[in-house]
Amino acid sequence: MTQNENTAQLFGWNIKPWLAAASAEPMDSDTQIIYCGVQSDAIAVLQTLNDQLLAWQSKLVNFDEGDLFSLAGKSGPLIILRPRGVTDGQKRDGGLLAPSPYGLARDLVGRAFVELKKYKSLKVKVRFVNAQPEEIKGALVGLEMASYAYRAHVQGQNLGLPQLVLDVDKKLLAEAQNIGIGVNIARHLVNTPPNKLYPQSFALQVEKLFQSFETVTSTIWDEERLKTEGMGLHLAVGGASQHRPCLLHLRYRPKGVSEQPIAVVGKGVTFDSGGLDIKDPASMRLMKKDMGGAAAVIGAFYQIVNNKVARNLDIYIPLAENAISGGAFRPSDIIKAKNGMTVEIHNTDAEGRLVLADAMAVAAQQTGANKPSAIIVAATLTGAIKVGLGSDVAGFFTNDDELAGLISRQSQAHGDLMWHMPLFEGYRSRLDTTVADINHCAVGSYGGAVTAALFLAEFAKGYPFAHMDIYAWADAERGALREPGGSGQAVQCLAAVLEHFRRT
Ligand code: BES
Ligand code: ZN
Ligand code: ZN
Repeated sequence: MTQNENTAQLFGWNIKPWLAAASAEPMDSDTQIIYCGVQSDAIAVLQTLNDQLLAWQSKLVNFDEGDLFSLAGKSGPLIILRPRGVTDGQKRDGGLLAPSPYGLARDLVGRAFVELKKYKSLKVKVRFVNAQPEEIKGALVGLEMASYAYRAHVQGQNLGLPQLVLDVDKKLLAEAQNIGIGVNIARHLVNTPPNKLYPQSFALQVEKLFQSFETVTSTIWDEERLKTEGMGLHLAVGGASQHRPCLLHLRYRPKGVSEQPIAVVGKGVTFDSGGLDIKDPASMRLMKKDMGGAAAVIGAFYQIVNNKVARNLDIYIPLAENAISGGAFRPSDIIKAKNGMTVEIHNTDAEGRLVLADAMAVAAQQTGANKPSAIIVAATLTGAIKVGLGSDVAGFFTNDDELAGLISRQSQAHGDLMWHMPLFEGYRSRLDTTVADINHCAVGSYGGAVTAALFLAEFAKGYPFAHMDIYAWADAERGALREPGGSGQAVQCLAAVLEHFRRT
């Protein structure tokens, strides 16, 4: 059964894909977007536009000078797009994070969306000239992403999107729509405030989002179950909040696929106050986004399930609020993890790796047909990674060369950038302690993203393992993200990695 898009609801957002309402019929439009492919040649493009432009306007459309030309054409506003800059990105592989045709198209079309608002367009025809399928896909994803705005709690607002007229391949359109919605779902989950989005509400609403799919089953472990399962670390982190911790498990088994599943774990800390090692106000300000890893995993999962990708997957989302009360865990507590290790707590603000460790242990302990082929994690794990790479480039760590190559390639191809960081064993001894099997965070301030990843790796022993340390937030509008807020970081890369792992 496929999902009824008209009824899908997620934290006050009616999920109605803009692309789904597009018409393929050649209708009269008041506005045109003309997307010219990265390989299109300027003269040929201008010839096709000749009948639309006034003679003096042709001179303005100079592809050496700009990538977006917004003009009053003969029959209405005309937005001409052609990406510039490095166009052989894919050939340069993961080495330089060069822009890809998909990413360039997505971000350029996103910027064109602003023009539609300016012109108060009601009907917009999008035409593609000499564009490769990857560019068309990127452009369509860009339209869907640009149409999203977080207005769940603003009363009396109507986003009023124009009618789209699109003549593109149906399959490509559906795929792009699901990618765009997947990204928007991740953004929306991050944008939703922590008094609305907490462990139970996250688990229940996300479970509902997938309930109509025969290929998906879901289980929620409540606090009691976490206790009987021995999830000491997860329980410790979630112990202080009135919103009790839980674990959401989604299992995807499309028909006819008999391979071992890939396990995917997303950090679902619905608010990170730092616990007793309380954060300062500036650092706490954005901590509703500390479930950004969980959001990315759910966004990628949405895309994969809706696009019916033939892959077995197990999604584990440990959910907890890192709060402060008499029930809070403390620095110097020693806690038993799901895998039996004893863990000394050094800083209660390093809580993400704790909830992830227990959920990873659940994945690692699966047997038979459910034994994972790899364990992949996405998490807003450290401030240190942001210091190193900034907010637009995530860091990833892995113990597997094949995963390293795959993540680099897919991140670059999808303009969802990630940089390979070292899982450097030389720092492992910084997690040593004399009073427990391991300390969860290193004493000393440098290399914090590496030591966090090394701690996680302990819980994926014997498996190919990768961990994406993400920021999940756009501080300002850019490309297809038309407002600051949740960015959907890692959704596009993760979905592609899951689709292609050990296939290509
Ligand atoms: N959620 C934070 C990491 C974070 C901070 C992500 C800012 C994005 C932006 C995480 O739980 C945390 O607080 N990590 C600490 C670890 C430290 C106490 C060892 C950090 O990175 O400072
Ligand atoms: Zn923290
Ligand atoms: Zn955190």
